[in-house]
Amino acid sequence: MSFIGDVTVGRKKLWRLAELEEFDNLIQFTDQPKQDDFRFHGSWAKDYFKNNNPITLELACGKGDYTIALAEKYPDKNFIGIDMKGPRLWSGCVVAQERGLTNVAFLRIEILDLAHYFAKNEIDEIWITFPDPFLKNGSANKRLTATRYLNSYKQVIKDGAIIHLKTDSTPLFEFSLRSLRDNSCTVEETIDDVHNDEERHEDLYIKTNYEKKHLADNRIIKYVRFSLENKADRMTG
Ligand SMILES: C[S@@+](CC[C@H](N)C(=O)[O-])C[C@H]1O[C@@H](n2cnc3c(N)ncnc32)[C@H](O)[C@@H]1O
Repeated sequence: MSFIGDVTVGRKKLWRLAELEEFDNLIQFTDQPKQDDFRFHGSWAKDYFKNNNPITLELACGKGDYTIALAEKYPDKNFIGIDMKGPRLWSGCVVAQERGLTNVAFLRIEILDLAHYFAKNEIDEIWITFPDPFLKNGSANKRLTATRYLNSYKQVIKDGAIIHLKTDSTPLFEFSLRSLRDNSCTVEETIDDVHNDEERHEDLYIKTNYEKKHLADNRIIKYVRFSLENKADRMTG
């Protein structure tokens, strides 16, 4: 039985991967290999979205729940969901199409390669939603708040712009706070239990696919808002 189930899942993924090739709201690394002359590099707003609106990225977006919800809420902003897994992105692409969201795109790439797809200062805000915690020994540099990832965000985001991280993983949360301190970032707010904080910003009410599963398991959701700039230095310096 489980063999038949696996085959079904495998077929569904293959079918989704094939369909992705036809989607107008997805760009895949297979379509445009890593290169500095990527066609929308530095001109996403003007040439892809046909406007001058600011751009928010959702990293590790999976099915793109934040991308979709924020795009509906803020029609005057552009949103790009980024993940390496095609079958997950398929869901976000389909929902965006069904809802007629023209301010949404999805990009299937490795997040470390952001600078190949975006120019310096092209990005106004980043959400990192439930990234894999990579808790095994020797995996720390795969965490999306490890120094090499923070450096890749620095290559594309505006100075002082906001980055949000939501996670259910206490080890990842603690690692992230240490990494932010070691990289002289500015932490603007931390919340230890997002869904028990009445003061939280209303954008934190949005729940991702993984977040719903974690909440059903009685896990506690943590949040940090930060910028890559050392704002204390700027004010005293
Ligand atoms: C635990 S899932 C969370 C998905 C979604 N944000 C949610 O909350 O439902 C983590 C996602 O991060 C993606 N991911 C992890 N590391 C990545 C990387 N370096 N580049 C691109 N995607 C990555 C995985 O493919 C996976 O879909």
